[in-house]
Amino acid sequence: MGEVVPAPWGAFLLTTYDVCDHVLRSKSWVALDSEWRARQGEGNRWAAPASRELGRALQGLNPPQHTRFRRSVGHIFDRATLARLHDPVTRAVDALLDRLALRMRDGEANFAELVAEELPVTSMGLWLDLPPADYPLLRELTHHQVYAQELLPSASQIALSNAATLGLRDYFGELVRERRRKPGTDVVSRWLRTWDELEEGDRDAADEAVYLLTMFLVIAAQETTSTLLSSMIWTLDQHPDQLNWLRGNPQEIPGALEEILRYDAPVHLTTRAAAEDTVLAGVPIAKDQLVHTLIASANHDPARTTDPETFDIRRQGRHLSHLAFGGGIHYCIGAGLARLQAHILLDAVLRRFPTLRVSAPPVWEPRVAFRRMTTLQVVDH
Ligand code: HEM
Repeated sequence: MGEVVPAPWGAFLLTTYDVCDHVLRSKSWVALDSEWRARQGEGNRWAAPASRELGRALQGLNPPQHTRFRRSVGHIFDRATLARLHDPVTRAVDALLDRLALRMRDGEANFAELVAEELPVTSMGLWLDLPPADYPLLRELTHHQVYAQELLPSASQIALSNAATLGLRDYFGELVRERRRKPGTDVVSRWLRTWDELEEGDRDAADEAVYLLTMFLVIAAQETTSTLLSSMIWTLDQHPDQLNWLRGNPQEIPGALEEILRYDAPVHLTTRAAAEDTVLAGVPIAKDQLVHTLIASANHDPARTTDPETFDIRRQGRHLSHLAFGGGIHYCIGAGLARLQAHILLDAVLRRFPTLRVSAPPVWEPRVAFRRMTTLQVVDH
């Protein structure tokens, strides 16, 4: 249908790797910030409180605000941080797999629910020092909030997202107040000190910045990593030869994960607006009009990857390149943590459960942008 395909709702779908990559890296295409959302007027999805809040969080910011926020946290998952998280995440994986093993003694168990949706929130909890008792609440709030980031959310999804936005504001607002009362060496306390300096002592502004950071990070981590953790089990199960090869060659897990991210991207699209009237791959696009970078389509672009519909964990180089973590200034800040969790979990599953198999096709929630697998039944015999 072409590289830039008009969609019935007035936006454009970008289908190839090069066009998506260009848009993600170009200054001519901007994130949907508060000003853009305000210009869309009232009485539509962009005016919903959930949407307005997203216009103030990292992914909705443009330079210079975006640069300020990214710089304030630096390389949050640098080597040292990932090394520190390695053992706690491994212990969390072991505990979740113990629970899975127990369930599988009685027959089928839902891997998506028992493991894939638990590990991301647990990892974020370990990193941000959150109480495990809060994980179920956080999971529910992020599942609902993310509807405002969907391609075409319904009115009832927006209502759920609005309520979840309030819930997340309460939760992370209270977290910030608690770390103010008892500052420590944890990540949130450190960010508060950074933002107190940046805001030159304006505590309310610093608190708001740290709330926006923590709130958005937890949503972005949960609603993506869970899908990767489930889809890696499902995709490998569909390719038993490659699964067996990987079991004998666990040092190849990192490459296999990149192929899983390419083949079955957890986030299928992201959206940008034209900064000015422009032309993209020969198609005129007016200022403020939207383009959706179809990540999943770009990852299957035959101009980039030979035989893109074939799943092949031994791909190398440019044929393995993908946009699963985006590109340009909004490139995923949590990619390192997602890869760490997926690596530790897949390694442990391969070693502990040589006869694990998927017993029924997965059930997906009907979401397009942030996909979500709700059920992945597995058995071990
Ligand atoms: C497999 C797991 C993940 C996938 C597929 C994924 C995907 C993405 C994508 C596609 C973007 C770019 C969005 C855009 O350009 O509009 C992004 C940005 C982002 N991701 Fe991830 N992500 C994952 C895990 C995580 C984790 C674990 C965290 C947090 C710990 C995280 C935090 C973020 C944040 C904060 C942004 C916005 C960055 C910015 O705007 O500067 N993500 N992610």
